[in-house]
Amino acid sequence: MAIGGALGCMSMSYGNTTVCVKSAVVVRSRRVPQWRAQSIAQQKSKSNQTAQILLSEFRQASATPLQRLRQVSDDMTAEMHAGLLSEGGSQQLKMLPTYVEHLPTGDEEGLFYAVDLGGTNFRVLRVQLGGKEKRIMNQEYQEVAIPPELMLGTSKELFDFIAKTLADFVATEGEGFDAHSGHIRELGFAFSFPVLQTSVKSGIVIHWTKGFKIDDAVGKDIVAAFEEAIGRKGDHIRVAALVNDTVGTLARGRFWNEDTMLGVILGTGTNACYVERADAVAKWRDPPPKSGEMIINLEWGNFRSPHLPRTFADEEVDVESVNPGDQWFEKMVGGMYLGEIVRRVLAKIAQEAGLFGGSSSPKLFEPFSLSTPYVSKMHSDESAELTEVAKILEDVFEIQSTTFQERKIVHDVCDILAERGARLAAAGIVGILKKIGRDGSTTNGSQGLKNSNGKTVVAMDGGLYEHYAQFRAYMQAAIEEMLSETAAKSVVLELSKDGSGIGTALLAASHSQYGTVF
Ligand code: BGC
Repeated sequence: MAIGGALGCMSMSYGNTTVCVKSAVVVRSRRVPQWRAQSIAQQKSKSNQTAQILLSEFRQASATPLQRLRQVSDDMTAEMHAGLLSEGGSQQLKMLPTYVEHLPTGDEEGLFYAVDLGGTNFRVLRVQLGGKEKRIMNQEYQEVAIPPELMLGTSKELFDFIAKTLADFVATEGEGFDAHSGHIRELGFAFSFPVLQTSVKSGIVIHWTKGFKIDDAVGKDIVAAFEEAIGRKGDHIRVAALVNDTVGTLARGRFWNEDTMLGVILGTGTNACYVERADAVAKWRDPPPKSGEMIINLEWGNFRSPHLPRTFADEEVDVESVNPGDQWFEKMVGGMYLGEIVRRVLAKIAQEAGLFGGSSSPKLFEPFSLSTPYVSKMHSDESAELTEVAKILEDVFEIQSTTFQERKIVHDVCDILAERGARLAAAGIVGILKKIGRDGSTTNGSQGLKNSNGKTVVAMDGGLYEHYAQFRAYMQAAIEEMLSETAAKSVVLELSKDGSGIGTALLAASHSQYGTVF
């Protein structure tokens, strides 16, 4: 008789083993001889022991104790200095001046568009700004998945697709949005890849990241390519600002809170920008900006340091990526890779210790079969039996029967890697705070930056930060661990929701050819 039948599921017999198909609980038949049951139990316990050893080795290899975090953040600060000295001064951090001279103040008025290209989805949006009193009066957006073949195709194909989506979206502009008659519509273009800007509305693509690889665009002006595609569609809309998503995030933060000094993205990819004193940018050759300040895009995804706790899984992810050798920091922290690293660790424990009955699940061995949102869901499973973990293992890897110990290992691997990523991101932020004298280690506060009334707001955006509560908590804790109590109190991480979209439209407004107030 199948015990599983009592649970209301269909039962099937394989030899002397009965399997409940619906709930996937394997039930041992009473006919298993005792000696055999003992040997299975011994085998399981041995496999569990080996799995625990591998897990503990992995935990050690991924550890980020305070000392190591300090080394990482010191290396970040040192590379920032080097990158500001001369073009190519740092092999890792590009430290790109953004030409953004005016962060939004809240005075901006009018209708502005934004196109946000930086991950597997892109968005078009419009906002109606109403000045200091009314701020953002209305907003609308549309999100579109980029067909995967366009991520590896030609720039004409990509931009024709984007320009068409934009044209269709502009055509739906209706009530609540008021384009100024006689003005050409203006748009901010968030292009979240490394770009050497040549003005606030032009820039040369340095290389691609996050799975994109469109070779003909490298070395060319990305705004020109976009505007040509807009022209082919016959649309009347002009790019007023080319913006990295971190800069949009900083702008969106500044619009609401003038203490905002850093913009950080923790999403598919990762990166940060900050407000720097113009005279600290030794490599700058153009006339100094009137404000005396510049926003610098670190492109910290490409940061590396001998102190980064890299493991076999990081090596594998890097070697098999479309950009091997690049973006080490991003590949350890960013949402595009977190799920894949977790998967590789589980696959190794499966192979070497027989986790989930060894290599029996082909999906477990399929690259990128586990996405980061699943890691976050499994990690936040607080049920006594880890039922959410069980469900995801079944849904994603088709592993139908797991023991509690196995599920606990999965939960631990998620925890280890989220903690590592979050603490490394925190070390990066502390590195920047140190560079601008806001980490509490110097007595002269903000080292000459205008905004120095005691608070430093870090505008944060990206799915990893927004939707992964444990990741956020680990980051906050690491920042508090690294800074003195007083400094930690003065640093506020604030979600700048949709910074790359809204913030980019705000930058189009603050760089409008018609001025900011009509
Ligand atoms: C890009 C950055 C971007 C970051 C977050 C990285 O891969 O190089 O420009 O800011 O992703 O989207």
